[in-house]
Amino acid sequence: MSHEHRGASTSDEICVNPLFARRSEHAIPRWRLPDDEMLPETAYQIIHDELFLDGNARQNFATFVTTWMEPEATQLYVEAFDKNMIDKDEYPQTAEIEERCIHVLSDLWNAPDPHGTMGTSTIGSSEACMLAGLAFKRRWQLARRAAGKSTESPNIVFSSAVQVVWEKFANYFEVEPRYVPITNDRPYLTPEGMLAAVDENTIGVVPVLGVTYNGVYEPVKELAGALDDLEARTGLDIPLHVDAASGGFVAPFLDPDLEWDFRVSRVHSINASGHKFGLVYPGLGWIVWAKRDYLPEELIFNVSYLGGNMPTLALNFSRPGAQVLLQYYNFLRLGREGYRRVMQASKNAARYLAAELAKLGRFDVLSDGSDMPLVTWTTDDRERAWDLYDLSGKLRERGWQVPAYPMPADITDVTVMRVVFRNGVSMDLTRMLLDDIVAAIAFLDALPAARPDTVDPPIAFHH
Ligand SMILES: Cc1ncc(COP(=O)(O)O)c(C=O)c1O
Repeated sequence: MSHEHRGASTSDEICVNPLFARRSEHAIPRWRLPDDEMLPETAYQIIHDELFLDGNARQNFATFVTTWMEPEATQLYVEAFDKNMIDKDEYPQTAEIEERCIHVLSDLWNAPDPHGTMGTSTIGSSEACMLAGLAFKRRWQLARRAAGKSTESPNIVFSSAVQVVWEKFANYFEVEPRYVPITNDRPYLTPEGMLAAVDENTIGVVPVLGVTYNGVYEPVKELAGALDDLEARTGLDIPLHVDAASGGFVAPFLDPDLEWDFRVSRVHSINASGHKFGLVYPGLGWIVWAKRDYLPEELIFNVSYLGGNMPTLALNFSRPGAQVLLQYYNFLRLGREGYRRVMQASKNAARYLAAELAKLGRFDVLSDGSDMPLVTWTTDDRERAWDLYDLSGKLRERGWQVPAYPMPADITDVTVMRVVFRNGVSMDLTRMLLDDIVAAIAFLDALPAARPDTVDPPIAFHH
């Protein structure tokens, strides 16, 4: 990727000697490999100092991704960061632990036969989603060829609020994306909308458990019911993949009776991000197929494993193995009850912020933490001379990173702010944030006129 560089950092040199004088280390090229070596302390200090400008990860309320793990996990991370997940022969025990995690997830997601599932860890949910989409596409092609039908124009159906990964999948793997419009009243994939979009070329439908923009759980069971009816009427058998990037580690603990997973037999596969509510540092994703048949054999590659063959499927070859061990650490450390308590604490803090924001009388709370532990709000208060981008900017002065962004296609006229309550966003931090929101509103209300726009609102917000 190439980037345009602006500001003072366009200087072609980085000044060395960040703290005390160091002999013969003055300046080094910014955009070229330096000719010579430097002391490790100096290299460390340069990068360490530059990172001051990054936000504080714990105050990053935009992210779903883990920003804190306990010291024992960090110790395990340090002990294991040299392990390459693909070296199953060299690190058989890491491979064994990955298998154990897949089994745990198959069970957590109620696979009828947790021993008969197929799955893998991935670098994140994006890779997992690509694999799910590929399995759909290949399965559809095989069935169409066997029936002597054309494989020219595959399509895939989801709501217009899907995460950007599905747009990428459709683009990279040449499948027509069919976005079912969402509305303000029903900001999720509806059975009617889905039925209007599917046809014999639909490789699959993707409901999201925990829509990125508003945390909504799309109605997997109702969508499956509508597809069952369609099959009874027309013979078309269209599978579901649930993108449970965030919800896959929340719903099983907080809404165990919600049937969104392999209890719904039309659900072929599920992905989740270990690095989101799986509570592991980035990057780790998971995908599980309920049955081996759902994953065409041709997509599986065999690598040597303890003198035998280990089936693998992934877009990348090498990738870190440590995160898989951290996932297993959390499974051992927390168990079901521990995960439930962590998620419940996040939900309690979300519900608290939602209720307090509503009391301010300035905002319309759109997501109040009922599904995912996240809160979104908007404002239609036309009297004020500021907008949510101004509020977001003002909160930045105290280090809070609370994004404002337009909702996705079909309802882009609505701008929202969002706070994701992940582990570590405590009730205490929430109260401090709330105090700062109140103070920021008072400041903005007192401005004699609107502030000039310093930054264009983002075109889209994907995380
Ligand atoms: C619903 C959904 N799917 C997929 C992704 C992509 O996940 P990852 O960042 O783990 O690649 C995200 C990320 O926010 C998401 O919210």
